[in-house]
Amino acid sequence: MAKVQFEWLRRIPENSIHAVVTDPPYGVKEYEFDQIEKRLNGQGGIWRIPPSFDGHSRAPLPRFTALNRKERETLRCFFVEWAKLATRALRPGGHVFIASNAFLSQLVFSAAMEGGLKFRGQLIRLVRTLRGGDRPKNAELEFSGVSSMARGCYEPWGILRKPLPPKMKVSDCLREFQTGGLRRTPDDKPFSDVVLSERTPRKERDIINHPSLKPQSFLRPLVYSALPLGEGIVCDPFMGSGSTVAAAEAVGVACIGVERYLNYYEMSRKGIPRLIKLANQPDKKEEELLFPGIR
Ligand SMILES: C[S@@+](CC[C@H](N)C(=O)[O-])C[C@H]1O[C@@H](n2cnc3c(N)ncnc32)[C@H](O)[C@@H]1O
Repeated sequence: MAKVQFEWLRRIPENSIHAVVTDPPYGVKEYEFDQIEKRLNGQGGIWRIPPSFDGHSRAPLPRFTALNRKERETLRCFFVEWAKLATRALRPGGHVFIASNAFLSQLVFSAAMEGGLKFRGQLIRLVRTLRGGDRPKNAELEFSGVSSMARGCYEPWGILRKPLPPKMKVSDCLREFQTGGLRRTPDDKPFSDVVLSERTPRKERDIINHPSLKPQSFLRPLVYSALPLGEGIVCDPFMGSGSTVAAAEAVGVACIGVERYLNYYEMSRKGIPRLIKLANQPDKKEEELLFPGIR
């Protein structure tokens, strides 16, 4: 199965991409045909349908705690295999920013290391997800002072890098491969590993109806910093509806996106130009979140 899934990554020339910025199907099974169908029918599966309250109905979220041992092993194999291919495709010193979640990040990051990438830390996207914080199920009154688990307030992204050739310094790597470091912000600050973020704004969700759409305000600084010299190609091998590609275009970075499902790909063709346009009309909140100078 994995062979067919990663066909494109397997075929591209070795050392041909400079960075990866991606939001993979980190429960793996949430983007299987049967699970997508269950989500559309509102019948659960791995997609938890949150209760509607305050007159608002919430979007379904994947329930990653529902993965059993076998599924976790499938997930590990998926990311080991993927990381092997990504390592081959990346130039030495090429960075990978990979989205995860608080339940699975340790598994995803260690599998990526097993596949050949070097762990360089985490990027914490501060954002209130709707996960966790609930009282024990069916005993809410009895244990009204207890939450089963912490309320999610962040999203961990792995920062990994293809190892530099032995004894090579970052400066040599920059000269030879245009990789190895992270680009400083336009106002000359180092890229920071905690980012104050937001849930994807309504105006972006109105353009694209993908269950995992990431906000432009978060992705633009990421794609910008992934190319230390502003040269080369960023790749999103799980592009969904193309939010990474749109962010890259908006900040003037070349990007390739790959998506398994034709309908998401079609969505991206229509949605990317409209998301890029938003870059020129940030609202006030967005302006505070964006790096100065990156629109
Ligand atoms: C979490 S979503 C990414 C959503 C994206 N961040 C966006 O804003 O639209 C992961 C995507 O990866 C796709 N996918 C799953 N397996 C894949 C594979 N083997 N190759 C390419 N895409 C895949 C899924 O269909 C899904 O659209």
